[in-house]
This record gives sequence, structure tokens and C-alpha cells, in this order.
Amino acid sequence: MLVTMPSQRQLVGLLASLSIASFFLTAVMHRGAPGFLNFYDGHKASQPETKEPKHPIYKPIPEYVPPPIRDNFPLLSRSSKPLPIPEWNVPQKNLYKKYDLPIAPPLFIGFSRSWPILLQAVVSYITAGWPADQIYVVENTGVQQANTRGQLSLQNPFHLNHTTLKTLGVNIIQTPTLLSFAQLQNFYLSLTYSHNWPYYFWSHMDVLALSYEDGHETTPKYKEEGYKSLYTLALQALQEARNEDPRWGIRFFAYDHLALVNPEAYEDVGGWDTMIPYYITDCDMHSRLGMRNWTMKDAKAGIITDVSTTLDDLAALYRLENVETKFTDPNPPAPEKEDSKKNARGSSGNVRRRDATAGRLPPSTMLGKRERVAVYRGDLEARESDEQREDENLTRFRKLLKTADTMFHYKHGNRGRNTWQTGQRGGEGEPFYYNAAGLAEAIELTTENGKEVYRRKWGHRDCDLRQGAGLNFEDQWIVEKDW
Ligand SMILES: *[C@@H]1O[C@H](CO)[C@@H](O)[C@H](O)[C@H]1NC(C)=O
Ligand SMILES: *[C@@H]1O[C@H](CO)[C@@H](O)[C@H](O)[C@H]1NC(C)=O
Ligand SMILES: *[C@@H]1O[C@H](CO)[C@@H](O)[C@H](O)[C@H]1NC(C)=O
Repeated sequence: MLVTMPSQRQLVGLLASLSIASFFLTAVMHRGAPGFLNFYDGHKASQPETKEPKHPIYKPIPEYVPPPIRDNFPLLSRSSKPLPIPEWNVPQKNLYKKYDLPIAPPLFIGFSRSWPILLQAVVSYITAGWPADQIYVVENTGVQQANTRGQLSLQNPFHLNHTTLKTLGVNIIQTPTLLSFAQLQNFYLSLTYSHNWPYYFWSHMDVLALSYEDGHETTPKYKEEGYKSLYTLALQALQEARNEDPRWGIRFFAYDHLALVNPEAYEDVGGWDTMIPYYITDCDMHSRLGMRNWTMKDAKAGIITDVSTTLDDLAALYRLENVETKFTDPNPPAPEKEDSKKNARGSSGNVRRRDATAGRLPPSTMLGKRERVAVYRGDLEARESDEQREDENLTRFRKLLKTADTMFHYKHGNRGRNTWQTGQRGGEGEPFYYNAAGLAEAIELTTENGKEVYRRKWGHRDCDLRQGAGLNFEDQWIVEKDW
């Protein structure tokens, strides 16, 4: 006889799916987001039924699609070896030894999506003097071997060209699965155990790095005796931290665009809290480091600019003649007039919503609340007012600096800070394909949930856990809310 009662195993499965459903309910209702009911109906509809099959209702197709991504370094694509970098930034062999360092420090640059932006960051570090073989691009895409095999097209958001990176001479490390921001930070920590690395640098991928080639309080100009590139100054900061501060935890360069980490400090506080995956996880981590007396100081090594756009031709960073220093937004906004017309008619709600979603994505720069604009602008003006600096190399350098500044203001002005993350929307049918807008929305939900975890963990809503709320390291999860 056929058993019609659910078996124990099925019951357990049902209970599990109910609790997962209620988890989603809590998360989604918390944000008051629509869509849960659809989800739930879908869930019920999967039960065997005799009625007519249901048909899904599709969201409107966005009428505006950003233009395809372009190769921003065609010269490298045609070459099998890297271009020579500006000679004044070429690092001395084994320079790290001069700074009493037991090993050359690795620089991690995490990549999840937006290849042209990553390539710009990597190339800018190299041309600013960072040895390519000490750079580790950490491929955090979740696409397994697809990029290794060259299976993802340029329009796929997860596209990463291993051949190009190898030509540049940088290393690639792959995460075994797609990690959140906090998980990625702990992955960096795990690398220090497997490689015996006593320190490391990590950089955001949406930056453009330049050395202080026209002089700075930390270094003379590029041709002068004693000039120090970004890399040299980074080594110097590491040496200082090690020699002068037994409790050094982090050194931040240009806000947190580049950071130097002491793994011992991370270990002491138990690493990043992966239950707070994106926004505000930095407040959690850095507060805990401070509570345990690890120092977090600012240091200076170069001009590392937060950008959302890329130079049209990265050859400009090599100071090649006849290369224009211009930039393009890989995800330009929809044409203004059309958009408002459509919205008046109420027919392009989907486009709008997508853009709003993009604007709220977790930033790649986690300390995003600090005010960067004013400081940066002041810095640049001081440079422009100095007049006795005209030679062709400084002229090219200043053009780059000025363009970087414009890119910075573009990112922090009209254009949403994180729109660059949703520029590429292709790749349908390729291995591990994931809808780009869907990913953005899913990360947003995960982010919101992480903020709630933070609030419950500390009983406090804001970043100021120590001075503001008087909390100590031992107070995690055992305090009532203070609002
Ligand atoms: C990667 O770049 C190389 C040139 O450097 C090119 O030949 C190859 O087609 C690119 N791979 C993909 C998957 O686009
Ligand atoms: C941190 O420093 C303060 C003040 O010097 C001291 O009272 C406290 O015990 C230290 N805490 C740790 C974990 O070292
Ligand atoms: C600019 O740099 C090049 C090397 O890339 C060098 O040959 C040239 O002399 C430099 N120009 C000046 C004015 O120093």
C-alpha cells in the first residue's frame, strides 16, 4: 500500500523550509519590501495541484541598458609582456630588506565584478612602483574555473582575464565560493596562516593609485635625490609600525583605500564578524580592535583616489606619449529627458528601481561615512598653486592627478558611488550566470540583515560603540538596546 502520510524525513524537510520561509519573512518584512507574498505564493504553487498551470508575470524589461564595456588597455591585450613603468618608480630589487622586513609584503586586491575597474587599480599600483609579483588579485566571483578557462565574455560582470593579469606579472588567488566583504577579510587572514605572512596590505579595487611624483611632505619630487614611490613609503610605514608600536593593528592610507594589517591583531579579536557581511561590519571590527588596545593610525604613501570610472586607455599610467588622459563611466546614467518622460507615464519603474538599488549597494570603501571631498580638494589646490614644476613628466603626472580628481568628484557628486558595480549586465548562458540586478538586490537584503545583527549584538545603532555607547569588548550580545 502506498503511504500517503508524510514520512518523518519529509516532515523535517517541511519544518526546515517553513523556518527558512519565516526567516525570509522577518528579513523582508523588516524592510517593508514588497514581493514576499509573491515568493510565498510561489512556494505554495509548487505543491501538486490539479488546476491550470500558473504563468509567471515578468518584470518590465528595462528600456535603457548601459553601453557595452570596452577594453581599457588594448595595448596590453596585444602584448605578451608588460610595458615598462616610469623609471623613477621602478622598485629596487628586494627593497623590503632595506626596511628590515622578513618577507616582501603581499598586497591583496579583492575582485568580485567590474573588470575594467580592477585592471585600472592593478595597473595604477604597478606604475606607482608596487612590484607586480607582490600583488595578489583575489578572485572572489563564485564562478569556479570559468575565468581560468576564459569562458566568461567581457560583458559578464564576473569576467576576469587571467591571461592579462599573468602578462602583468601579478598573482591570482581564487576564493572557493563567493564571499561577503567580512568573509573576504577573514579569507585574507586565513592566507597569512597558510603562507606564513606576518603582515599584509589590502586595497579596494575601485581606486586609482599614484605616487607623490610632484613632491610631498614625505618625499622630494620624482627626479630628486631621496624620492620615494608609493611602494617605498608603504614599506617605510610598515617598518615604523613594527619597530615603534608593539600594539599596531592597522595603518590606513588615504582613508581606507589601502590598509596595512597586523594579522595578530585580527586574531586577537576573533576576526571579522561574518554575520555582519557588508555595511557597518567595519565599525564592529575596528571598535573591537580599539577595545583591545590595537592601534589604528593614518599613514601616507601616495594619492589613492576612490573612483567609479576608468581611464579610457590605461597606457596613460605608463606616461606614453600621445595617450589622452580621459575617463569614461562604464555604467553611464540613463539619458535624462527620456527617463523623466517615461516616469511621468509610469512605465519605467523598473529602470528607476534598479538605479536606486545600485545607489544603495554596499560600498567597496567601508569607511564611507568619512568626509573625503573637502580634504581631497584642498590637497589638489595646494599642488596646482606651485608653479616651478614644469617638465614633460610632471605635466603628464599632473594631468593624471587632475583626471583622478575629476573622477573622484564624478563618483561622489552626481553619480551614485556604487553604480560601477552594475555596469556589466551580460553573460547570459555562460557558466555560473547570475542576473546582475538580482545580485545587487540580494546583496542589499543581506546588507540590511547585517545591520540588524549589529544593532542586536551591541544594543547600539551607530558606529560609535566605544565613546558613544561606552561599550567594552566583553559586552557583545549581552547588553540591552540603548534607544
Ligand atoms: C584575455 O586577454 C587576452 C589578451 O591579453 C585575449 O586574447 C583573450 O581573448 C582574453 N580572454 C577573454 C576570455 O576575453
Ligand atoms: C587597554 O588599555 C587600557 C588603558 O591603558 C587598560 O586599562 C586596559 O586594561 C587595556 N586593555 C587590554 C585588553 O589590553
Ligand atoms: C622624463 O622621463 C623620461 C624617462 O621616462 C626621461 O628620459 C626624460 O629625461 C624625463 N624628462 C625630464 C625633463 O627630466
